[in-house]
Amino acid sequence: MEKLNILLVGSGGREHALAWKIAQSPLCGRLVAAPGNPGIAALAELRAVKVLDVEGLVALAKEIAADLVVVGPESALEVGLADRLAALNIPCFGGSQRAARLETSKAFTKDFCQRHGLPTAAYGVFTDAPSASAFFDTLQAPFVIKADGLAAGKGVVIAATRAEADAAVLDMLGGRFGTAGARVVIEEFMHGEEASLFAICDGASAMLFGAAQDHKRAYDGDEGPNTGGMGAYSPPPVLTAALIDQAWRELIEPTVKGMAAEGNPYVGVLFAGLMLTPTGPKLVEYNARFGDPECQTLMLRLESDLVPILLAAAKGELASAAPPVWREEAAICVVLAAEGYPDAPRTGGVIRGADADYGDEAVVFHAGTALDDQGQLVAAGGRVLNVCALGATLHEARDVAYAALGTISLKGGFYRNDIGWRALSQH
Ligand code: AMP
Ligand code: GLY
Repeated sequence: MEKLNILLVGSGGREHALAWKIAQSPLCGRLVAAPGNPGIAALAELRAVKVLDVEGLVALAKEIAADLVVVGPESALEVGLADRLAALNIPCFGGSQRAARLETSKAFTKDFCQRHGLPTAAYGVFTDAPSASAFFDTLQAPFVIKADGLAAGKGVVIAATRAEADAAVLDMLGGRFGTAGARVVIEEFMHGEEASLFAICDGASAMLFGAAQDHKRAYDGDEGPNTGGMGAYSPPPVLTAALIDQAWRELIEPTVKGMAAEGNPYVGVLFAGLMLTPTGPKLVEYNARFGDPECQTLMLRLESDLVPILLAAAKGELASAAPPVWREEAAICVVLAAEGYPDAPRTGGVIRGADADYGDEAVVFHAGTALDDQGQLVAAGGRVLNVCALGATLHEARDVAYAALGTISLKGGFYRNDIGWRALSQH
């Protein structure tokens, strides 16, 4: 069997989980991560090339004769990394700049949904406050206001009153999110529980790749500010096989077909943020990447080799790839965040206990970590570690993950104590 040279782009917990799974593959020869993190360093060769340095990444892919480039974050797609690699015939798991607009432009996605009749919230796109205000007259509170472009997950305001809604529009148009807020998207508020559904796409077809549920708010009980995600579990019982089937037929399939028909074939992960409304799943947003921390739970549960699936998607050969096989167990991921996250995370705090061996039971992925001058592991980002576990039940997985978390310390660090509560409270 010929071994592959693989370049993994990114440096978060999602990429550590991907590296962990890729490194287990018998197909994996040389694994290089750019820029990676201290956790990934145990599995891959790290190269200090940044995610937005397209030319640096292309040069690295050439230098290592990459057989496959796996792109973690959407920011690298937005600057055209996949397009440059495609021009060089280097297989890339990740979408073109134009295809990635499903994540990078909310207005593009809303218009796409309208063109193809996909279930999502009613909406309007505005560049001036009076027109936005007139649109609010047609809606009921609460109001949903979003900056059009990428705003690191912080460009969404749910306003309880008209006054707050008008203020949010002025704030965004006034430049609070820079050019990302030059256009605002206003949406009808959808009621229901949220879940994340994943499809792996090769431009022409899609393969179901599991589901998970995230916890976006910073504190227990879903209180506090929105974050990139404080924890996840998989599978989410709320997303039944029937609902997955409906979302697949009404959203995923028409999206993959529609993108191809419009000349933007979609390659990579199509991550649908769903609202499970009383009338069925509706799209909250698409992302052009694996969810973080949802990905960590999927990697724990995935029994199949990940590499043939990513390679088939990158080469447009998904139709001949075997679908993923999942373990029976439930997986959970709890995020340890730095003090002050998400507004002003305090970096530099020393982390202890992160690299203990938890055997088969728990795995700790590094997210925002770094080594300081003395070689100590320190917090280097808002989300610092991802403590993950598998269990025969979600209860068991949770107990294992929290037991492991109890042995880790980071001054001022915090985590949610209730990851999985929606599923756990049902039993
Ligand atoms: P987004 O960045 O678009 O995923 O929005 C962030 C969060 O805001 C989502 O995860 C939802 O919890 C909430 N949200 C966004 N759009 C809507 C909507 N139209 N109705 C209800 N909640 C929404
Ligand atoms: N955890 C949600 C996201 O990755 O967008």
